[in-house]
Amino acid sequence: MGSAARYTISMDERLLKKFDSHIARKGYANRSEAIRDLIRDSLVAEEWGKANEKVAATVTLVYNHHASDLSDRLTEIQHHHGGLVVASTHVHLDNDNCLEVVILRGKSQTVRSLSEQLIALKGIKHGKVVLTTEGKKLW
Ligand code: NI
Repeated sequence: MGSAARYTISMDERLLKKFDSHIARKGYANRSEAIRDLIRDSLVAEEWGKANEKVAATVTLVYNHHASDLSDRLTEIQHHHGGLVVASTHVHLDNDNCLEVVILRGKSQTVRSLSEQLIALKGIKHGKVVLTTEGKKLW
């Protein structure tokens, strides 16, 4: 972190009270850290708005491996996008269900598109993508 700058924010008292109870429930020790996280999240969202920005993401998928040829299709898609897929982890949850986490890295437009393609595959019970950052532009 660079040198710290102090600032004052004015806001409606009711809004501030709501914010304080919100961050207390989340476990923040103070307002500053909570506000820093909000700012970072907003900056990451801005990165994702630029098609050629280099970003990272995790895609979490839960599926039944007996469902048609889903396991093969998942593997095939990942092989075809070797430049974007950094790693993937597979956990056998029970006799039928699998959890797979795919880590992607690349230009935001292509990472987003591949994430959506994976989640939309027929047979995926639940899919979520976390769009994050390479972190170089955040402090
Ligand atoms: Ni499995």
